Parts: sequence; C-alpha cells; structure tokens
Amino acid sequence: MAYENLVVEKKPPIGYITVNRPKVLNALSIRTVLELSDAFKDMRDDENIRVVILTGSGDKSFVAGADISEFQNLTPDGAREYAIRGQTLLNLIERLGKPVIAAINGYALGGGCEIAMACTIRVASENAKIGQPEVGLGLIPGYGGTQRLPRLVGKGRAYEMILTGDPIDAKRAEEIGLVNRVVPQTNLIEECEKIALAIAKRAPLAVRYCLEAVDRGLNGSLDDGLVLEANLFGLVFGSEDCKEGVRAFLEKRKPEFKGR
Ligand code: COA
Repeated sequence: MAYENLVVEKKPPIGYITVNRPKVLNALSIRTVLELSDAFKDMRDDENIRVVILTGSGDKSFVAGADISEFQNLTPDGAREYAIRGQTLLNLIERLGKPVIAAINGYALGGGCEIAMACTIRVASENAKIGQPEVGLGLIPGYGGTQRLPRLVGKGRAYEMILTGDPIDAKRAEEIGLVNRVVPQTNLIEECEKIALAIAKRAPLAVRYCLEAVDRGLNGSLDDGLVLEANLFGLVFGSEDCKEGVRAFLEKRKPEFKGR
C-alpha cells in the first residue's frame, strides 16, 4: 500500500510509523486509519521488527483526534461503523504481539489519546497535551476512550477528563500514570529508542507472552488471568530461547535469543 498520510521506516529491530498530516495536526482521517492498519500489520509480520514506535510529524502534535471534517455528513449507522473501524485498529495495535511505544510529541486529543492508550508504553514530550475533548463537540469518545482511560488511570480521574473535556499537561499525565515518563522534546525519539532496544535484547517469545498475559488478564478475572499466566509459563518452557536463557545465566554469559 502506498501511504499518503504516513511515513513508515524500518531500522531493525525498530519500526517507525509517523502520522504525517501536519497541516491538520495529524488528525486521523478514515484513510489514515486504513493506512495505519496496513502499516501495523506489516510491522507485525516482519520478524526483524521487535518494537514499533508510533509518533506524529512536526513538533506540535502527536494526533489531534479524528478528522472532524469527516463528521459532517455521518449518519448514526455510519458513525457506528466509524467507531468500529477505529476500535479495530486500536485492538490490532494492543494485540500486535510486539510492543508499540507511543512517542507523544504534542497534542494527543480524542482519537490521539485513544491510540496512545492502545500502545504498550507512552512517553510524552514536555509540551504534550492529552485529553478526550469529545463532549465539547456534543460527542462521546468512540475509539475506546471510555474503556481504556479508566483502566489506565482509574474511574474518577477518567471521569474528570472525559466529562470536562479539558486536556491535561505532560506532568499531570505522568502523575496519574497516563504516560510512563516525560522527556524534553528533542530527546523524545531517543528515549523511546532506549526503551525499544532494552526490550529487543530480550527473548521475543517471552515478550509476546508477557504482552498476552497482561492484556488478556486485565480483561478478565484474576483467577482466569492466573490460569492464563500459568499456561503461558508452561508454554515458554518449550522454547529454545528459554533453554538458552537459563543455560546462559548458569554459564555466566549473555544469552543469544533466536525467537524460537
Ligand atoms: N480534525 C480536523 N482538523 C483539525 C483537527 C481535527 N481533529 N485538529 C486540528 N485541525 C486543523 C484545524 O482545523 C486547523 O486547520 P486550518 O489551518 O485549515 O484552520 C489546523 O488543524 C491547525 O489547528 P488550529 O486549531 O489552528 O491550531 P491551534 O494551535 O490553534 O489549536 C488544537 C490546536 C489541537 C487545540 C485545536 O486544533 C483543536 O481543538 N483541535 C480539535 C481537537 C479535538 O477536538 N479532537 C477530538 C476530535 S473527536
């Protein structure tokens, strides 16, 4: 697929996806959502890519939400499809099987906050402004905001953001656990790369099972989550990498993981 609205780059083990519509602060048009789906599937299927970094182009905005100009003639049924299309993309990101780091380089509003929340880890630059402003447009969040935000920051804090529609700054986002850390904008990608490379040193299957255990576990009961964890713990013992990791520790050397 030729991308009109994305810049996609691969420097194994890291894949970079940049939403590139700076004139509209990287708002997500329908085409952008479809392009993102294609780009993330490509990163998922490329075994040389271990971690994906998602960001927005320019120094002002990560993603300023869904493209509001596409809302004008939306019917209720069309709006439902619109929400499902976005939710499907965000589920793909959340369950990619490899970590996705959101490098939040400015506004992350509405769909921008939502896509960041579907990522595994969020790093924000000092100028970031994060929020769910939909109520100000007479709407509600439609790309998972009402579900992922309370799971990340707790019900009361999520209500405050969703009901006032007011964005919070990077410092506050870090305080409430909406982002993992805040860094100067000039270091943003470098900091994300450091995290990505730390993860990429680890056993790929183990990383994938950790993602699955946490994501699926959080959607169910503690008991079901513990069963899943024990099953994945068992499964990982069948991997060559597990044998290599344990052997390397005992032989006091660095492991060489192969992703098998
Ligand atoms: N959809 C479509 N266009 C958008 C957009 C969005 N979500 N967010 C910004 N834009 C466009 C603006 O319309 C403007 O276009 P123009 O130059 O043709 O007028 C351009 O991007 C620059 O935005 P502008 O509003 O001039 O920048 P600003 O610095 O004054 O304000 C924001 C920045 C993010 C506060 C403001 O653009 C905004 O509130 N955007 C909408 C955010 C939102 O509600 N998102 C959720 C949608 S459900």
